[in-house]
Amino acid sequence: MKAYRASILYFSAQADSSLAHPQAVLETDGLLVVGPNAQGRQVVQAVGAYAALAPRFLNVPTEHFPGRIIAPGFVDLHIHYPQIDVIGSPAEGLLPWLDNYTFPQETRFAKPDHSAAAAEFFIAELLRNGVTTALTFASSHPESVNALFERAQHHQLRLITGKVLMDQHCPDGVRDDTEQSLIDTEALIARWHGVDRLGYAITPRFVPSCSAAQLRGAGELAAKYPDVWIQSHVAENFDEIAWVRQLYPQARSYLSVYEQFGLLRPRAIYAHCIHFDDEDRALMRTTGAAAAVSPTSNLFLGSGFFDYAGADRVGFGYGLASDVGGGTSFSPFHTMLAAYYVGREGQTKPDLSLSPQHLWWQHTGGAALALDLNGVVGNLLPGCEADFVVLNPQATPLLARRTAQAASLDELLFAMIVLGDDRLVEKTVISQAA
Ligand code: GUN
Ligand code: ZN
Repeated sequence: MKAYRASILYFSAQADSSLAHPQAVLETDGLLVVGPNAQGRQVVQAVGAYAALAPRFLNVPTEHFPGRIIAPGFVDLHIHYPQIDVIGSPAEGLLPWLDNYTFPQETRFAKPDHSAAAAEFFIAELLRNGVTTALTFASSHPESVNALFERAQHHQLRLITGKVLMDQHCPDGVRDDTEQSLIDTEALIARWHGVDRLGYAITPRFVPSCSAAQLRGAGELAAKYPDVWIQSHVAENFDEIAWVRQLYPQARSYLSVYEQFGLLRPRAIYAHCIHFDDEDRALMRTTGAAAAVSPTSNLFLGSGFFDYAGADRVGFGYGLASDVGGGTSFSPFHTMLAAYYVGREGQTKPDLSLSPQHLWWQHTGGAALALDLNGVVGNLLPGCEADFVVLNPQATPLLARRTAQAASLDELLFAMIVLGDDRLVEKTVISQAA
């Protein structure tokens, strides 16, 4: 067992639905006690006020972080590890951005050496930014998946990834073969899913890049392996949507194409979900699929604004994502701030304003809930895996000045969301196996 003394931020109860936005609690002089669970993995044993808990854990070695805040490690619901060299590439919109920057970079991931080096850089960048769980696109090359899983296993990270399925409408070098792509996917599931903290995600890139046969095969695998994740993109960009309409003129909507192939279910995470109507929202709710809201990407590529009011009115799950390299930053603080702007400006209900606690929840416990990992990651209640960040609110002169004057928890969280970046994250701690 080991204990950490600091201010401790956590959410007061595990939510049982995506609509519950649990209250954040800040224990100003708190104690976080971690120790092994039955499988030998470090989990939270107790959290609360130092004065109340310390007598019970007198013999437990305690590390003291004066002036620091311990908070749950962040959960990134959608990111592309082969796109670290794509961030900040200018394009008129999604489709030319894919053709001119993204596909050429992803071609390089056929090479195991390139994949391994990029994977190591990618994980270091996640950890520097306080992200301890990520649902990640690899490239279409199985080598890229092996490389990322190997590095994540080495770091004991909770990481979910999968080989991208893309057998049409994309160039040589990234395009795969329908039958082989499904064979490769099943082999990768057998090799990696459930090993240590690793999980597999069946990863059809998006409808235009997958033949009907490939989508059907992906849906069959999703039915055969119900605890494997699914990740894809939907309703991001108007040209993309028009293309899907051409390919599937009979479909009610873009989202319904995924339904038709059995790709909407719990543990299915769809990036963007911007241009939805209420029937789409209801389809997300009834199938248990969830949205990866990617505001820096949506602002950078000019895709549009996620409709928070619509999502809450109909009631489907969502959480926050960087979507690097369409997204512009690994930092959860940048993503939460962009989500705040989207919440203010992009709504059918103009007075909606996302609270700091709700923003923070979307990138921790709410994202974990979307992944069906509620109570496993994204919070620091007893039983949660001990993934956490140590935040230094004095990390910059302006942060120190502003946070010192915060008169409430909301003001403190907001100051960190607005002014924070990787400098705020002093340390990232990953749950270790005994
Ligand atoms: N749609 C299909 N592929 C991609 C991608 O790599 N990034 C984004 N933002 N949208 C996509
Ligand atoms: Zn994406």
